[in-house]
Amino acid sequence: MSKARKNPLKITDLTFRDGHQSLFATRMRTEDIEAIAETVGRVGYHSMEVWGGATFDTMHRFLGEDPWDRPRRLRKYIPKEVKFQMLLRGQNLVGYRNYADDMAVAFVDEACEAGIEIFRIFDALNDERNFETVANRVLENGMHFQAALSYTVLGRRMGGNLFTLDYWVGKAKTFASMGAHSICIKDMAGLLAPEDAAVLIPAIKKATNLPVELHCHTTSGMAEYTFLKAIEAGVDIIDTCSAPFAGRSSHPAIEPIVVLLQGGPRDTGFDLELLSEVAAYLEEIAPKYRYLLDTTRLAVADIGVLLHQTPGGMLSNLVNQLREAGAEDRLGDVFDELPRVREDLGFPPLVTPSSQIVGVQAVMNVLMGKPGGTIPERYKMISGQVKDYCYGLYGTPPAGINPELRALALKGYPRGETPITCRPADVLEPELEKAKAEIGDLAKTRADLVLYNMFPTTGKKFLAVKYGKEPAPEEWKPRTLEDARRDQELVRKALAGELVEKAEPPPKGPNARTYKVYVDGEYFEVSVEGEGSAPVVTQVAAPAPAAPAPASPAPAPAPAQAAPAADTPAGGKGVVTAPMPGMVVDVLVQPGDAVKAGDVVLVLEAMKMENGLEAPVDGVVGEVLYGKGDSVAKDAVLLTIN
Ligand code: CO
Repeated sequence: MSKARKNPLKITDLTFRDGHQSLFATRMRTEDIEAIAETVGRVGYHSMEVWGGATFDTMHRFLGEDPWDRPRRLRKYIPKEVKFQMLLRGQNLVGYRNYADDMAVAFVDEACEAGIEIFRIFDALNDERNFETVANRVLENGMHFQAALSYTVLGRRMGGNLFTLDYWVGKAKTFASMGAHSICIKDMAGLLAPEDAAVLIPAIKKATNLPVELHCHTTSGMAEYTFLKAIEAGVDIIDTCSAPFAGRSSHPAIEPIVVLLQGGPRDTGFDLELLSEVAAYLEEIAPKYRYLLDTTRLAVADIGVLLHQTPGGMLSNLVNQLREAGAEDRLGDVFDELPRVREDLGFPPLVTPSSQIVGVQAVMNVLMGKPGGTIPERYKMISGQVKDYCYGLYGTPPAGINPELRALALKGYPRGETPITCRPADVLEPELEKAKAEIGDLAKTRADLVLYNMFPTTGKKFLAVKYGKEPAPEEWKPRTLEDARRDQELVRKALAGELVEKAEPPPKGPNARTYKVYVDGEYFEVSVEGEGSAPVVTQVAAPAPAAPAPASPAPAPAPAQAAPAADTPAGGKGVVTAPMPGMVVDVLVQPGDAVKAGDVVLVLEAMKMENGLEAPVDGVVGEVLYGKGDSVAKDAVLLTIN
């Protein structure tokens, strides 16, 4: 069947990075990949994306795995003809801000050391200056530099007056001049229309003479059609997933493409039987991860994405953030606010981290500001990341930033009120020596140090566990298939009304694991303990109607801001509460310190963004109720001001 192959289509397998990142919150464990890796290695993939993106964050934060180990472990099963690929966010590396050059160089060197060979590099603003340091270092290491265009549209199709064919071809030529070995069109939300792909791909190939790889998410339901047109138009490589990890906000499945091209000039030569072995394995372990799949909608194609251009992952993040803030019914308002925030910020393509920056700010504006109001009315609280963005630390967006927002965001900004125009990393001081001084001997290798510097709070915790200074948290332990099946059965019984709430439940043991279950707007907490112990199902509360969180800058008497009674200390004239659930990353004051209204007193990491919380009134800090690393609920009182 492969005799007819003249120009076989090459395939990158995304199952073990973007596939589970898109559908299962990036929670797949290395041991579950290892079990099928040898089989995947025989398929004939051009490359496998196995690392980067969110894997680095979730592995150390939720799975208790050292991210650097994954490529090394998988390499034992995969032949060297199959290249290992990663997604690298330019100067953001695999974090959420721009890092200094010393950090960027160290990260690339360590990634090469760990076995990454193809570096797909992108920047959320398509600012080529954010590619320079990492791309040069990839080239110096003798590895493959793939430059990715963060594809976006204004309206429904390529064109208009910003994201035109000339814009994309111009960017591709710039990347080619920087030494790129290939160009990727990275279509995060499936916005690339088939006819536009048929024009864009040959234009880039002609202008750069480089291979073009196409990466489309199936979110909008267009990707398969776009792939067919792209294949006809001569695309060199496409990105797919094994069927169980394909579709929805993930990517097209490989299996139908193999049949589609069989016997023709672009035949992949793949063995469908072998692919079905991989798919069968993934179905077998699916119970471990299925609970992470968003099944709230019947539709496989998300029409909303055609309307709102919200990429895979971003939507579920927004829904989760609103749910945690008890404001799920405000999703419509957030969709209205998103394009306004995006316009205010100069129309960034929506991809990490700009998707979070725009999304979180839109949520904050809806929860705390006046929808449809003026800039100061909408932006009651501005995230630290939006301030950095307005200063220029993320680079230059495709269009200008709203000058009124920029002035508001930079009022009192520590680096200065005048934004920079140079390459963002040029204003960043080297970081690694300072990080080494902070973490000391807990970072035993440079790889440890890079991990710590990227994720200071969760990274430090991970290293403490890795080196036996702290026990591993219970929630890091892998769930076995038996665990997963038992949980599923429990949920089934709860839904069928077969569980009777006992008058006096037995005390919950230390090994009980609690799961949140949402059923038709009702919220249950299900605690699960090992065999022999009775499950306890409690209906906690129906989602509360949306109550706007208190806006911190406005001076208000304590009762107006009071949080749940049990948590509220008596007395005091002001309290700082958590406007949304999150983790305290810094406390900038101590009891007894004098503060003025508007001073930033505490930094809360919420929705992956650091937010400075301000004192609502002048006064003296009374109690500080939470410390660095503590997780806090929405409306929790964090400190009091007397
Ligand atoms: Co993707």
